Parts: sequence; C-alpha cells; structure tokens
Amino acid sequence: MTVQQRAQSRCHWLPELERHSGPLYKALVDQLALDIADGNLKPGDRLPPQRLLADALQVTVGTITRAYREAERRGLLEAKIGSGTRVRAQQTEAPGFRHLSAAGQDSIDLSLSTPIETPLRQQQLSALMERLAGRPDVVEAALHYQPEQGNSAQRSSLARWLSAQGLPMAADELILTEGGQHADFLALQVLVRPGEAVASDALTYPGMIAAARQLGLKHLPVPMDGEGMRPDALERLCQQQRIRLLYLMPEHNNPTGAQMSQARREAIVEIARRYDLLLLEDGVQYVAPEHRGQAFYQLAPERALYIFSVSKILAGGLRFGALRAPASLITQLSAGLRAQCWASSSLPGAIACEWLASGMAETLIDWQWQELAARQQLMRECLQGYELHYHPCGLHAWMALPAPWRAGDFVQRAAERGVTLIGAEPFCVGSQPAPQAVRICLTPPPTRDQLRVALERLRELLHEGPPLKALLV
Ligand SMILES: Cc1ncc(COP(=O)(O)O)c(C=O)c1O
Repeated sequence: MTVQQRAQSRCHWLPELERHSGPLYKALVDQLALDIADGNLKPGDRLPPQRLLADALQVTVGTITRAYREAERRGLLEAKIGSGTRVRAQQTEAPGFRHLSAAGQDSIDLSLSTPIETPLRQQQLSALMERLAGRPDVVEAALHYQPEQGNSAQRSSLARWLSAQGLPMAADELILTEGGQHADFLALQVLVRPGEAVASDALTYPGMIAAARQLGLKHLPVPMDGEGMRPDALERLCQQQRIRLLYLMPEHNNPTGAQMSQARREAIVEIARRYDLLLLEDGVQYVAPEHRGQAFYQLAPERALYIFSVSKILAGGLRFGALRAPASLITQLSAGLRAQCWASSSLPGAIACEWLASGMAETLIDWQWQELAARQQLMRECLQGYELHYHPCGLHAWMALPAPWRAGDFVQRAAERGVTLIGAEPFCVGSQPAPQAVRICLTPPPTRDQLRVALERLRELLHEGPPLKALLV
C-alpha cells in the first residue's frame, strides 16, 4: 500500500477536486461548501487532520492549511484547540439580525433600535395621507416609474433638508433607497467584488455583517478604542490585506456608542488616500447637528459615500433613505439599483419629504431627543454603578457586564425575566471573541414606566449574579 492509499483509507472525507477549476485550495473549499450544502458533511463533523488529507490528495500541507483557513473565514468550518477542525453550524444571516421575531409576546423589548412611539406620529401620518391623496403630483408620481436615482423632487427636498442640518449635498449626488440597509447593501454589491475585502470597526452593525456575508465578501475587523477603529490597527491591516471599502459610523457606533474625534477622522482619511480605500459612512443612527463632527464625505469627497435614513428619527416602516456618492460613482450605483428594483417607490418618499419640508420632522425629532434624555436619566438611576456607554442622541446604551457574567447567560436570564436584549456576539466581525457586554435599546417600550420595569429587572439580575449552573458549564 502506498502512503497515498493508506492516507485515503483513513480519510472519512475526500474531496473531488477535479470538478473545480482554479487554485487547489479554492477547489477544496468549493467542494467542502458543496458537501455541506448536500448534507454529506453535517454540522459538528470533524475534518481529516491536515497532514493526512495532504497525503491522501498528494498536495502540500500548506495547501490544506490555506484551504481550512479560507473555509473558516467563509464560516464553513471552526477550529478549536484540542478538538480539531469541524463543520460549523450554518447561519444564513448574522445572528441577532432577526430582531422583530426575537421579542416574546409578553416580554418588554429592549432589543430593537427604533424611534420612540408617540400618538402625534400616528395622527400626523393619518392626516398627511389624506392630504397627499388630494395632491395630483404625488398621485401621478406614485403611478409612474421613477428614475433610477429616485424621484427628483424628493431628492431636491431631501438635499435641502440635509444641507440645513449641516450635511451639505446636492440633489444629483443622491440615490434614493428603501432605507439605510438597502443603501448599505447597494454600496457593497456595486463597489466590492465577491472575494474582495471590506473592513469595519470590530464591533459593528449586524446588517452590515449580514450584507457582506450574503455577498461573499471578506469582512475584516479593525480593533477599536473609545473612539472606534484605531488608525494604527487599520494601517497594519492595510499592509497585510487589500481592502476595497471601509465601513464607518463615526458619530455613533452601533453598538458601542463610540464617537470619533476630528483628529481620528483625519487620520483615517489619510490612510484611505494612501491605500485607495472607499469610505462608506453610515449615518442612519442619526445625531443632532450640534453633536456631530465633520462627515467623511466633507473630508474626502472623492472617495466617501454617506448613508441617511429616516428610520431612527421618523419611522422604520417608511423604508426611506438615501445614498450620497461622489459623481464618479453615481452612474454605476444607479445601474446597480436599477438591476435590483428599477427605482425606489415614491410613496414613502412623499410622506418623508413632506414631513421634512413642513417642519413636522423637527417637531418629532425634538420630542424624541427630550424623551430620550429622560429615558437615559432613568437608565442612569436604575443601573447606577454599572459601566454604561451611550451618546446623548443614542437610542441605545452599551453595558459592560460585571464579572463573572457572560453576555449569552445574561441575555438568556433576562429573557426568562421578560426582557429581550442583544448580547455582543451579533455585532462581532469575524471570529474574534465577543466582549461580555449587552446592548440596551431605550426606545421600544411605549412608556417610561415600562422601560423602568425592564431596567429594574435587569438590575435585579445584575445584583443576583449568574446562577451557579452557568458558571459550571
Ligand atoms: C447603523 C445602521 N445602519 C442601517 C440600519 C438600517 O436602517 P434602515 O431601517 O433604514 O434600513 C440600522 C438599523 O438599526 C443601523 O443601526
């Protein structure tokens, strides 16, 4: 028996590499993905040791190492010291990106980042819909196909409003989208090719993690400090990897609340210029102008895109947002949007733009800032002594759990007490370990009293500490 035959007889998985073209390591990963999809390999199945598989396939150990590493990056495998490399339980979306189904019927939801409910919003929307029904321009637009960039009157109206809010931009720099997530996805889909890399804060918005995964992009975490991503860490990453696009939330990182100083923004722009990175700033977690620094598109107009959405200030259900892009990218992005959905529907934009133009948006937003301040005060009282990070305009806070709490146990115990929240795991890019922290959204409870009940339940839990069982597992 040859070495190869002996190795083959001991390998319980032998990929058929001839079916694939391209480099061997990639062929191996592609076959692995097929075998997992076909059910030939199941979650938890152990893969052959690298040396054995190398002998069985007559390739170098380096090829197998590279393949296993690539498969790990794609989320197909996980390697654990002492138990080898195993097939990972598959997730088609970032865990925790299913907020809406997460909350139990009787529980108080602190998991969804949403505007605060007010009867004024409902009354205003009903009245506005009646008024819009009588407006021939709105009815006409609703019945007709719109240009790829979106309804031009709405683009002008939005550009005027954003400019007045300290975000100067022109109508022809905007592409209207069905919310911020759509704009995130569109930018990634059009500007980054499958297999290319994007980078972001190591803790970032799960919708971006889901979008990158869905599009088959490498998503690299940049280590953070209190201001978000660290320029030195970004520089090191750029030296090691070719990164196409950097995703940024400089005003208010979701989930940590971190805000970047001007010096930090300038340092990142300088790196972006040297390594030719596109910059995608997500401004969906909207903050008031007086709390805002310079947007990246103002610092680096040639390479920075900006995302706006009304979801956190008016209503998430409207699905109205926009992508601001440099002139050189508008045609490409418009073609991408056309390929997806032709153009965004004009009715949600008619509602949103009417609110923006009439001043109703300011009334709703100002009310929200006031209510939010009161809710943050309530949180400080209820969770006094615990490590809380939040922004004055932040709809959520980030709480570092005291040892020996683990985030997963805390989330589970909170759910048992009727409070739904999200731990750090869904925000983690790649396979880095998650910090022991949770995100607490202050806005979903309809009343402050309900928020108080939920926060008091969390305080009780924190005082009690984790049950012994959890410590022993
Ligand atoms: C940073 C960030 N971007 C985008 C979104 C999605 O926004 P939209 O609801 O407008 O799609 C969210 C929602 O939580 C978010 O936090």
